[in-house]
Amino acid sequence: MAEKWTPDSWRGKPIVQVPEYPDTDKLADVERRLSASPPLVFAGEARSLRKALGKVAEGQAFMLQGGDCAESFAEFNADNIRDTFRVLLQMAVVLTYGAALPVVKVGRLAGQFAKPRSAPTETIDGVTLPSYRGDMVNGIAFTEDARMPDPERLMRVYNQSTSTLNLLRAFAQGGYADLHKVHQWNLGFVADSPAAERYRNLADRLSETLEFMAACGMTSQSTPQIRETEFYTAHEGLLLDYEQALTRVDSTSGDVYATSAHMLWIGDRTRQLDGAHVEYMRGIANPIGCKVGPSMDTDELIRLIDLLNPRNEPGRLTLIARMGAENVLEKLPVLVRRVRDEGRSVAWISDPMHGNTIKSPSGYKTRPFDSILSEVKGFFQVHQAEGTYAGGVHFEMTGQEVTECTGGARAISDDDLSARYHTHCDPRLNASQSLELAFLLSEMLKDGRGKQAKQTAAQS
Ligand code: PEP
Ligand code: CO
Repeated sequence: MAEKWTPDSWRGKPIVQVPEYPDTDKLADVERRLSASPPLVFAGEARSLRKALGKVAEGQAFMLQGGDCAESFAEFNADNIRDTFRVLLQMAVVLTYGAALPVVKVGRLAGQFAKPRSAPTETIDGVTLPSYRGDMVNGIAFTEDARMPDPERLMRVYNQSTSTLNLLRAFAQGGYADLHKVHQWNLGFVADSPAAERYRNLADRLSETLEFMAACGMTSQSTPQIRETEFYTAHEGLLLDYEQALTRVDSTSGDVYATSAHMLWIGDRTRQLDGAHVEYMRGIANPIGCKVGPSMDTDELIRLIDLLNPRNEPGRLTLIARMGAENVLEKLPVLVRRVRDEGRSVAWISDPMHGNTIKSPSGYKTRPFDSILSEVKGFFQVHQAEGTYAGGVHFEMTGQEVTECTGGARAISDDDLSARYHTHCDPRLNASQSLELAFLLSEMLKDGRGKQAKQTAAQS
């Protein structure tokens, strides 16, 4: 029998990857102010996402999750939000076509500010300071002052997330996300791409489909699904002081929800079965995710699933595999097989970013486009072999043309990385690389459907 859960029961468990605030009174004051602030999301929206992810778990929808590794105060402006949102929409349209399924869109946005780190301190030229843990905790500058954790930053994250979410909602519902517009942007991307030939076929077929739909009377004016879109937010629920302060009881269901985002996930470094992060997440009613890295063991995974989704409800739990291109074919099958054999209902998605980070010869943290693609391919291959469903993808990406990941059709080289390397944490796919991946994935999804249809025909 699990012990009683309360929004603060995590405080009695071991916790890792969180800062030690020097001024606990100040922290308590911020927590009080956050507790008195309006929720960012409404429980009914979190329930809708849970339902949509239930379809993903059952193989009837595809999930696209993406956005910054770490949002920052410095890069906060309307253009950045708009551009990332736009690229996510563009990717979603391409994937919808390839999968012939609804795509559930979830941004790593409006709350993705806190980072787990490989070491608690950083040493430069003999000076040792606390590591940068994201703008939610401390500053990136290598000074004692900046690196001191400051609780007031939680309030600033709340405010920035509120404005970000407000703009996203306006874009999603106010006409910006119109399918025809999104398709026009994709045509622009294809026309400019060095790999235009490869993508044109798919883009042309999408154009024809839209023309056909319009001829049947399905236009932006007549059909809200063409004019508007559902868009959800998610972040790693790392700073539990913040999450607890924004936890609310939903008056319509009596359930308890995290209201800082529609979905929260547990990072690969904070998924200890007896730890504080798992404890907090098991009690909230939101859909939740959990990263699954190469060190995950099959028994551990089943125990984790049973803690987080004891009623085995589809949509409650999304497992985000991040094995690395080198490991995916070796490490993922046993996990997928065991979850399948034990009848646990989860959505499996692929994060091909976090297992493929390398240091480039010039010293930048980067990720080769080909490794990212190779991990996604491996992920699909594993699910096909096991007869399970590859439910989606999770990318670190931005709508800007940054130079952080190498490769892609524009072939960013190691020497190019310094030109526009802006990330506050991990290297992100730029707009073109993100769209390329969507096109390549879409081809894969479409081929997969073709194969499935042939198998079904052969069987009947
Ligand atoms: C992340 O998603 O930014 C992250 C830190 O991932 P992981 O927990 O998988 O390392
Ligand atoms: Co990251």
